[in-house]
Amino acid sequence: MLAARMVDAVEDETAFYSKAERYWQEVPPTVDGMLGGYGSISSIDINGSKKFLQRFLGDGKGKTGTSCALDCGAGIGRITKRLLLPLFRTVDLVDVTQEFLDKAKTYLGEEGKRVENYFCCGLQDFEPEPGRYDVIWIQWVIGHLTDDHLMRFLQRCQKGLRPDGLIVVKDNVAYEGVVLDEVDSSVCRELALVRDLVCKAGLRVLHEERQENFPDEIYQVYTLALR
Ligand SMILES: C[S@@+](CC[C@H](N)C(=O)[O-])C[C@H]1O[C@@H](n2cnc3c(N)ncnc32)[C@H](O)[C@@H]1O
Repeated sequence: MLAARMVDAVEDETAFYSKAERYWQEVPPTVDGMLGGYGSISSIDINGSKKFLQRFLGDGKGKTGTSCALDCGAGIGRITKRLLLPLFRTVDLVDVTQEFLDKAKTYLGEEGKRVENYFCCGLQDFEPEPGRYDVIWIQWVIGHLTDDHLMRFLQRCQKGLRPDGLIVVKDNVAYEGVVLDEVDSSVCRELALVRDLVCKAGLRVLHEERQENFPDEIYQVYTLALR
């Protein structure tokens, strides 16, 4: 279903969240499950993210630190394993599906010892610890939040950042308006609407990039660095 605004696409907020929770409880805790059957694009995704993130990291004025990252809507920890643990000293994960977090504990292997917290919580209710994170990574999950919840979550994320910290949103974008997916109970917003919510949250887009080399039949994917 295509709508101009989120409020037109989602009629019943409680059902929107509970349907999504039920959907993810039935998904196998695998990379393929995390990517809706597109497990094969995981490496392209991670390599693109690494290149995107590395320009902000390092020593020197204004550079983002590498002490602690938060993986939001982390699932089994696909991003934590290959992007965040190799770059950050410690990582926290948050996801609404307990089974995925349980799986992460074995999937992450030896390096998973550097995970400090596994939070089982919906992002609409989650409050990052103030001043804890250098990077808050939010990928393929914003479509599960209503506009208002996403805006407020981004505001709480900003409070969760360390000095020179960064919020990164990487997600599908629609060509126009808001597209509701009735199967997993999520929405896909056009880029202008995402930017608008970022701006309403009081954040600035530092850099924005389209992920290259993804299959033509899937949505375009954009990565936004926010502060
Ligand atoms: C498409 S998967 C992406 C997983 C991971 N970000 C990745 O790219 O591999 C979406 C994830 O979001 C989680 N999720 C769905 N709704 C959520 C919510 N309201 N709050 C937190 N996590 C949610 C699901 O349990 C699932 O792990």
